[in-house]
Amino acid sequence: VDLHLDLGGGGGGRRAALERALRDAVRSGRLAAGARLPSTRVLAAELGLARGTVSAAYDQLVAEGYLSARGGSGTVVASRSQPAAPAPALVRPAAAPRYDLRPGSPDVTTFPVAAWLRATRRALAAAPASAYDYGDPRGRVELRTALADYLGRTRGVLASPERVVVTSGYVQALGLLATVLGGTFAMEDPCLGLHREVVRRGGAGIAPLPVDRAGARTDLLAGALAGVTAAVLTPAHQFPIGVTLAPARRRAATDWARAGGGLVVEDDYDGEFRYDRQPVGALQGMAPDQVVYAGSASKTLGPGLRLGWLVLPERLVGPVLDAKRHSDLHTGTIDQLALAELVAGHGYDRHLRACRQRYRRRRDRLVGTLAAVTGIAAGLHALVGLPDAVSEARVRDAAAGHGLAVGALGDYWHAAQAGHPGGLVVGFGTPAEGSYPAALDRLGAVLHGVAERGASRRG
Ligand SMILES: Cc1ncc(COP(=O)(O)O)c(C=O)c1O
Repeated sequence: VDLHLDLGGGGGGRRAALERALRDAVRSGRLAAGARLPSTRVLAAELGLARGTVSAAYDQLVAEGYLSARGGSGTVVASRSQPAAPAPALVRPAAAPRYDLRPGSPDVTTFPVAAWLRATRRALAAAPASAYDYGDPRGRVELRTALADYLGRTRGVLASPERVVVTSGYVQALGLLATVLGGTFAMEDPCLGLHREVVRRGGAGIAPLPVDRAGARTDLLAGALAGVTAAVLTPAHQFPIGVTLAPARRRAATDWARAGGGLVVEDDYDGEFRYDRQPVGALQGMAPDQVVYAGSASKTLGPGLRLGWLVLPERLVGPVLDAKRHSDLHTGTIDQLALAELVAGHGYDRHLRACRQRYRRRRDRLVGTLAAVTGIAAGLHALVGLPDAVSEARVRDAAAGHGLAVGALGDYWHAAQAGHPGGLVVGFGTPAEGSYPAALDRLGAVLHGVAERGASRRG
């Protein structure tokens, strides 16, 4: 046990100073009831005191009731030495809903624990001691090499390890890009408010980029939105609407970028989960010098890892690395090595294949249970349309009464505005496998109830 005691200040000699310091530590709660104190020999050596001085101070505090001596097993802080715990804070974290159909997370109960452990063991057995030292801001070469190969093979990304930068999730990647590029970012409207705030705090402005049934209005980039430095897109599966960026819109984005308009940032957050027969490759493959590809392990493994990656045009590698170095030097090495091992050994592919099947079954069940479900070709969430007379708030209130949480489109617009269509954003990937059917049944019952009540009111 290490113990920090400040013997400076106050009068009365070294023993009195030690007693005072121990008393303060106990009173303030820094030393909790039951905590073991160092032996008199160790503390005397640490503080440069005679052992007898420390013994005498301990005896005094035992007499005062702060400490208790336990015969041969040392001295501990007495159990009634501290004031009662303060009343619990008024702000408590909101209780987790029993059934969670909000978008954002995969089913984290399926994290491949055994495969991850094996990968970590193999990675650390092979790692040189330098792996535990400060490292390259790009990230470990093992992971960059594995990702360059994997992304080329599965997503059609043109990548080389030198152009990959490992980040602490997409959130950090986006913040770094805002810092490096500055100016104004066109961001899909709707999109995640967190991402808008990250861009803002990175130092760039925001311009809303409308989304329709063909995806983001990239045709506006060369017109009404001319002058923006970057366009942040979710081409494979728009978040939260769920549409796929149409071929003409993909072309409009790359044409704009090629003509010197700016950079496209491709957020491929759920590109691994495609259910229809038309695999949609990454936009980056069409214009690797104009598109920054951004990926993340948050949907494929779990957001807790905080692992993401950028594949950058060559000219941006240096500036992004400079920003990364001044942000956090580099992303933690051990998890990078484990992920490299998992990807290179194809355990990642196996895990994703199993996840894809599971999520496809869930998606099919969603479509079979509810009406007006769209955005279902990919990903872990879908959009459920609401009748005009039914508000998102009413559905959410009713759902909360059933212990059910669900996302709403209204959470994602850049600005609240009359005329925005309403809808639920249902994260069918989020619940644990066993509770998904019940969660869905409840949502069905809630929607039915709300619609019935609306109809009877109108009648
Ligand atoms: C639209 C979108 N982009 C990116 C991500 C990944 O973000 P991060 O890697 O920071 O967890 C998410 C969440 O999974 C998301 O919903």
